[in-house]
Amino acid sequence: MAQHGAGGPAGPPAGLRLVPLEGEERERALGILKESFVGIYRWHAKRTLQHADRVHALLLGEEVVAAALLHRLAPEVGYVYYIFVGKDHRRKGLAGFLLDDALAFFRTEGAQIIYAAAEVDNSPSIALFRSRGFREVAREEPGFREGGLGAWGLRSKMTLVSGEVLLGRRL
Ligand SMILES: CC(C)(COP(=O)(O)OP(=O)(O)OC[C@H]1O[C@@H](n2cnc3c(N)ncnc32)[C@H](O)[C@@H]1OP(=O)(O)O)[C@@H](O)C(=O)NCCC(=O)NCCS
Repeated sequence: MAQHGAGGPAGPPAGLRLVPLEGEERERALGILKESFVGIYRWHAKRTLQHADRVHALLLGEEVVAAALLHRLAPEVGYVYYIFVGKDHRRKGLAGFLLDDALAFFRTEGAQIIYAAAEVDNSPSIALFRSRGFREVAREEPGFREGGLGAWGLRSKMTLVSGEVLLGRRL
């Protein structure tokens, strides 16, 4: 069986278009963002929607049904800040598609390692990242430049909060 994220992604799921959102267009993702996050995460995801390097969205007609907020933390390090899918569109492979696309995107940009954060009790999110080869990164493990997955010097840029785990994988 082919490993998810091993090569470039196939085309978008049937009927959907993959587009980058720029500037004010990003506000089109606010509806599904509000469906997907509450409290401090919603506040932070809204900020990140404006500031992330890239927003890759899946459109059904003109409606944004899923989005990934992607950022470059260092020349060799990509970060998946948030992936979220509208409630009516979950469990159809959309987040998996966006994650495969993010891995392919970062690979073409020359990144060697990708991180993501997830709340410890957000099992759909952790299962999503695990399905694409991510694993939990321990605080004390050797840094990514020393052969481990440790994110030395980068954790502060990731705005991790208490109750979140750091996940990572090499490309
Ligand atoms: C997490 C989330 C993005 C998953 O989106 P999705 O489009 O439903 O996910 P997919 O259908 O692409 O699933 C991909 C893989 O993720 C895992 N997964 C997704 N939802 C899951 C669930 N509810 N329970 C268990 N595993 C789940 C599975 O491993 C799945 O692979 P499989 O379908 O082969 O079993 C979605 O539930 C969501 O938007 N949640 C709210 C926002 C959030 O928490 N985002 C993640 C943190 S940034």
